Amino acid sequence: RRPNVVVVGSFNVDHVWTVASLPRPGETLSGHYHTGPGGKGFNQATAAARAGANTRFICALGKDLGGQLARALAAADDIHLHDLSCEAPTGTAGIYVDSDGRNSIVIGPGANAELSADFVGQHDDVFSAAATVLAQLESPVQAVEAALAQSRRAGALTLLNPAPADAVAPASLLALADVITPNETEFCAQLERHVGERIDADALPRQDDATLHAACRRLLPHGSVVITLGAAGCFVSHAPEMLRNDAGPYYRVLAATVNAIDTTGAGDAFNGALAASLAARPDAAFSEHMRYAVHYAGLSTERAGAATSMPRDAEVRERFGAF
Ligand code: RIB
Ligand code: NA
Repeated sequence: RRPNVVVVGSFNVDHVWTVASLPRPGETLSGHYHTGPGGKGFNQATAAARAGANTRFICALGKDLGGQLARALAAADDIHLHDLSCEAPTGTAGIYVDSDGRNSIVIGPGANAELSADFVGQHDDVFSAAATVLAQLESPVQAVEAALAQSRRAGALTLLNPAPADAVAPASLLALADVITPNETEFCAQLERHVGERIDADALPRQDDATLHAACRRLLPHGSVVITLGAAGCFVSHAPEMLRNDAGPYYRVLAATVNAIDTTGAGDAFNGALAASLAARPDAAFSEHMRYAVHYAGLSTERAGAATSMPRDAEVRERFGAF
């Protein structure tokens, strides 16, 4: 039987413009337009499902075309939806992607803002059957906290992707996460908020490993921190109790060599693949899950779009070999 992953989070209809360079204030640009499914929650659920996990997605949708799109796409990927149906419109995102594959994103939360602790609380059976539970911060923090608290009680491994960077993750929420997966900006934002320590996000990849590890330990004393660094791969730091049979308390993982055309959702690809891999092989070394997740995410950047760019497990293995 395939292992169970539960994702709690957002669904957005993404409106994407591909432009030569990201627009500056007062500038009018023209670019190629397309629309497609996104939202960090849905992207991560799609990645988990395509990486091979039996996936459930708890979310909030509007009674509109966006909501219908979410239901149709979830069905096509065999994702079991548990959606709160809202009067508010389905979430949206405006995204610009430049010729280097970098992006700028503005979100209209819409229905995502109505996901509640109460609705999440109605899913005890779902959390009880989960091997790993994954959430982000595009949904109200009370709902995310309820999800991780229930998952903890049920004995599931809890993953929190503290994205986007401007979202507040209270200490009570961080304490419920076994693993957090910020990118460099999100890591620096949480570190400053919780530990009062300032690291410049641009300089973070060049920090020495022991310094980074110490900062991670201060931010999440009892869990594992995975800082995703885009083309520079990622940095892993474990609490002693999370070490299990891993390579060491801290180390770096190289990114896959790819021809990135669109990095939108690459972090989501990483998170979904990590959740699926951890659920499938809970006894494998953490570094093996890392290798799978960076290769999975790398392949997603060679394709346009967010949820639609998530590769299948077989495609990842075919492209990069076995893990
Ligand atoms: O992480 C990428 C996602 O962020 C996009 O799909 C967009 O919807 C925003 O949620
Ligand atoms: Na992509």
